[in-house]
Amino acid sequence: MRVRVLGSAAGGGFPQWNCGCPNCVSVRAGDPRVLARTQESVAVSADGERWFLLNASPEVRSQIESFPALHPRGPRHSPIAGILLTNGDLDHCLGLLSLRESHRLNVYATARLRHGFTENNVLYGTLQRFPGHTNWPGLALGEERELHLDEGQPSGLTVEAVPLPGQAPLHLKARLGAPHPEDNVGLILRDQQRGASLAYFPGCARVTPAVLEAAGQAQCLFFDGTFWSEDELIALGLGERSASDMAHVPIGSPTGSLAAFAGSPVPLRFFIHINNTNPILREDSEQARQVQRAGWSVARDGLELTLDGKGPA
Ligand code: MLT
Ligand code: MN
Ligand code: ZN
Repeated sequence: MRVRVLGSAAGGGFPQWNCGCPNCVSVRAGDPRVLARTQESVAVSADGERWFLLNASPEVRSQIESFPALHPRGPRHSPIAGILLTNGDLDHCLGLLSLRESHRLNVYATARLRHGFTENNVLYGTLQRFPGHTNWPGLALGEERELHLDEGQPSGLTVEAVPLPGQAPLHLKARLGAPHPEDNVGLILRDQQRGASLAYFPGCARVTPAVLEAAGQAQCLFFDGTFWSEDELIALGLGERSASDMAHVPIGSPTGSLAAFAGSPVPLRFFIHINNTNPILREDSEQARQVQRAGWSVARDGLELTLDGKGPA
């Protein structure tokens, strides 16, 4: 399985347009210890020819241009065979609307996510210009299914959606009410021929035993790296909400992800969906060193991996 990180930042990107936090100031000043990042999305492929996008970020157009394997091979063509969504947050879905140039789309998502995106959304009409323009193959929780190419051929990859602690997107919270297991999922992708597996968990409110078990099946894990600490935004004077309020388990707190995953059997582990305030974005920070010492890496745009099912690539 080939894996390419298209974007590794949380919603807003790095730097964020309206943010003057120390990290955003440093990256604008060209500090070599901090790298700019686009909003989180990853491309995966069994054969390097046909690809699936994990989430469709608001920066999908430039992300496609940044990676030649995603460029058209003909006058009207795309190697992108489908898009898989982990939740309905706009940093994960808005890019769908940018892929509107009358191109057939296959969008794998839970029924709850599809409803949230399509119902009462006048803009969705742009993805319904002809019969079959946008197809929603569906993701049932806990069921492994094949990912197909446009022609109905198997792609060599399967996906299983697992429920992760989370919440409905901010813009739908009032309409949807109580949280639902289909609001926020992790994706386990498997390459059937090579046995390689990837757990893609970019949003997770708590590391429960079920989360550890689901991630533990995979050779490689991408996990929620939004915040280092519970009160990160509050301490910087940037907001009122804690990491828990936003359904993101902090990395560094005593009940955080570094502690919870200590002893995890997953050989390759990356933090992704990193908020611009997170000190791990500064390569020489104590927090970045702690992450490394614990066996994790900080995802960056352009990172590529080849997973062969035999251990670290
Ligand atoms: C999140 O990851 O919590 C959301 O993207 C926040 C948001 O929609 O602003
Ligand atoms: Mn987000
Ligand atoms: Zn910032």
